Formats: sequence, structure tokens, C-alpha cells
Amino acid sequence: MTNICVIGAGHVGLVTGACFAELGNSVICMDDDVKKIEGLKNDVLPFYEPGLEVMVVQNKRAGRLSFTHSLEDSIAGSNIIFVAVGTPQKSNGEADLTSIENVARRIACALDGYKLIVEKSTVPIKTGDWIHKTIKLNCKKGVEFDIASNPEFLREGTAVHDFMQPDRIVLGVESERAARLLIELYKPIHAPVVRTNVKTAELIKHASNSFLALKISYINAISNICEKTGADVLKVAEGMGYDKRIGKDFLNAGVGYGGYCLPKDISAFIKMAEEIGYDFELLKAVQRVNNYQRQQIVRKAKDALWNLQGKTVGILGLAFKPDTDDMRESPSMYIIRELQKQEVLIKAYDPQAMDTAKNFLQDVEYCQNPYEAASGSDALIFLTEWDEFKNLDFVKIKRLLKQPIIIDGRNIFDPLTMKEHGLTYFGIGR
Ligand code: UDX
Repeated sequence: MTNICVIGAGHVGLVTGACFAELGNSVICMDDDVKKIEGLKNDVLPFYEPGLEVMVVQNKRAGRLSFTHSLEDSIAGSNIIFVAVGTPQKSNGEADLTSIENVARRIACALDGYKLIVEKSTVPIKTGDWIHKTIKLNCKKGVEFDIASNPEFLREGTAVHDFMQPDRIVLGVESERAARLLIELYKPIHAPVVRTNVKTAELIKHASNSFLALKISYINAISNICEKTGADVLKVAEGMGYDKRIGKDFLNAGVGYGGYCLPKDISAFIKMAEEIGYDFELLKAVQRVNNYQRQQIVRKAKDALWNLQGKTVGILGLAFKPDTDDMRESPSMYIIRELQKQEVLIKAYDPQAMDTAKNFLQDVEYCQNPYEAASGSDALIFLTEWDEFKNLDFVKIKRLLKQPIIIDGRNIFDPLTMKEHGLTYFGIGR
């Protein structure tokens, strides 16, 4: 059993804290957001993540998980401190590391004996060096400490599973003592361990996320070739995916990637490369393809509806992917705003993200269910592949729509079945 403190109770920090508690450790999660901490103390989670709420509540009851907004209190009894604060994007694409610096300074003042300080947030290479320097400079007591990098690879929607059954555990350490502590902590989890230094671990995280985005943009680029030639991108992806060197995951063509991680991490990686004198052109192309995919949906709507002005469009799916209420960098936001610029009236439905969407999108008519969004609309556009959408009654939908037009931004449906229902169907790359 290890005493752990997790600083930052966001998507990464809260999952990390709850899962370490579930593994039998004593965990205290700290966040400056008093409202969030008070909520967690009352079993109210700040976001939706399958399986997390039960885990938080059970571990709190078992006395293994607690919450505070005092950094000093959280550090006092802990051996390992995980830093999982946000690293948002600056307007120039760079990662904003002011929260990390601020936390490092506060940790320095609160250190009362040896601690291992572990970076969990996605950070540019050399952040570990900066944290080390900052703590050294600000710690008056001269206590010993180590810095490590243990990047997370948690997907929203499956974060608990990803934590408990990861493909690999990356440990970037600079001392035997740090390595021992982390290896012991991760003992209950069976996965290959990649042990390396801090800088390499930091790079593994950036390189992995960028590669995932690259895969998505690659298949999206292929989908555009498919549309111009009459090939089917689903079959192309299937044919490619059986090759073990390529792999079948992350080859779903669609409206492009969104979310808090991929878009931000790629921008930060491009910026970091620029700073060290390398023009990461490949990743810039990945971004361009991603932006093009979003525009494609608006173009498809125009092709289908002729004049957009004054038309009504039903949008099904607002979250950047299923099983989350997260709207950050969601393609739906861009697409809805573009349609609104062209004076399209928007009716929208999402099983989880409508409350969040209200903070980002104005003048949208939010609906109770998919059928209400279809009712009286000139077209229905699918932007998130929620399970709930997979078995819709298309006879009813056709009846409700003003014009029988379906734009499927996630290739959820079979074009032939749609045709049989008398619907005009537009997929991606089919
Ligand atoms: C990602 C990484 O997967 C995870 O390892 C990292 O720790 C955090 O960032 P997440 O942001 O939760 O996780 O989403 P992910 O499942 O990777 O999907 C990202 C975006 O890509 C979504 O918008 C999704 O719809 C899109 N996507 C994914 C595709 O368009 N096609 C695909 O084939 C896969």
C-alpha cells in the first residue's frame, strides 16, 4: 500500500486517483476548484465517465480515497505525488505550462521529506527538467526528491478500463529509488513496462498521440480518394487492417478527430519541434486533413440541400466521440457554427453532451430524442456514433423529415439499407 497524492481532479487525475485507490492504495486527490472538490465529497462527479462514479463512491466509503483543496494537506502524508493538472493550448499552439510551474513551486514549499513527483499530464520534452529546477530553487528545506514521467494513455469513455488493463506502462525515471517505487505501485497491473529516462517517456506520449491522429487523417485522406473514384473506404480500411504491421484500430474515416488531447497535443508537438529547429511538416498535414474533413460535412449539406439559408438541419451527436459528455474541440461545434453562419436552423440531440453543449453553442434547439431532431428537418446529420443511434426506426425518421436526406459523418449505417428506406444517403468515402 502506497500513500499517493494526485494534484488535479480532471479526466486524468480523477481516474488515476480512483484506480490507484481501487488497487488498495491510500489516495488523496487535490484540486484548487473548491466547487469540484465539494461535489466529489458529496459523490457528485464533475464529468461523465463510465464506471468511474461507482469506483469513486466505493473507495471513499472504504476510506481509501479522499478529496481536498489544500495542496499542503495532500502532500503531507504522501510518498508519491502525481501531477495531473491541465496543460491547455495557448493561442500560438504551444502548451501552457503555467499551472505545472505553479504546482511545482507549491510542492517545493510543502516538501517535508523525500517524495517522488510524477508527471501524468501530457507535457513537452524537458518539462521534467523544469519541474526539477523549479523545486530545487524554491525548496528551502533542502529535502531529497525525484522527478519521474509516467504518461497516461487513457481514452475518455474507456478510461477506467485503459488504466486497469493498459497496453503498456511507461516509466521515465532517473534513479533506482524512483524506479522501485513506481514498479511496486504498478505491480498489480499486468502489462509490459517500458523503463526509460524522463525525456524519452515524455516523448513517447507525444509521439503516440500524434501517430493516432496521423492514422485517422490518413484514412480520412483515403476516404476523399474513395469518394472521387467510387471505392469504399470501409473495405479499404478492412483490407489494410488485417496487416498486423498496420492494425485495424483508428482506421475509421469520419468527420475527423476532436477532444481535449489529440488536437492540442499535435499543436504542442509541432510548436515544440519548431523551437528545437525541426519543421514537423508531416503533422501539419495531419491537421490540414482534419480541418478539411469538418468542412466536407458542410459541403455535403450544401450539395444535398442546394441553398442552406433558411433550411433546418437535425444534428445527432455533439460529443467529440461516444460515451462522453466532452465537447472540447468536438467537430460538431465547428460544423454547427459553419451551418449557422449560413443561416441554417439547428435542432440537436446527444445522449450525454447537451448540457455541456449549451456552454459552447448558442441558438440551437435542443431535442429530447433523435426523432424530435428529425421532425421537420431538411436533413439529418450524424456526427457521433452513439450506440443509441444504431437501431433507429428509419421508417419513422423518413416520415418525420421534411426532405429524406441523411448525412452520416461516422459511417454508422449501411448505404444500401438507407436506400431501401427511400433515404438519400451521404457517408464518408463510400
Ligand atoms: C486520446 C488517446 O487515444 C489516449 O491514448 C490519450 O491518453 C488521450 O487522447 P481520447 O481523446 O479520449 O484519447 O479519444 P480517442 O479515442 O483517441 O479519439 C480521439 C478522436 O479521434 C475522437 O474524436 C474520435 O471520434 C476520433 N477517431 C478515432 C476517428 O475519427 N477515427 C478513428 O478511427 C478513431
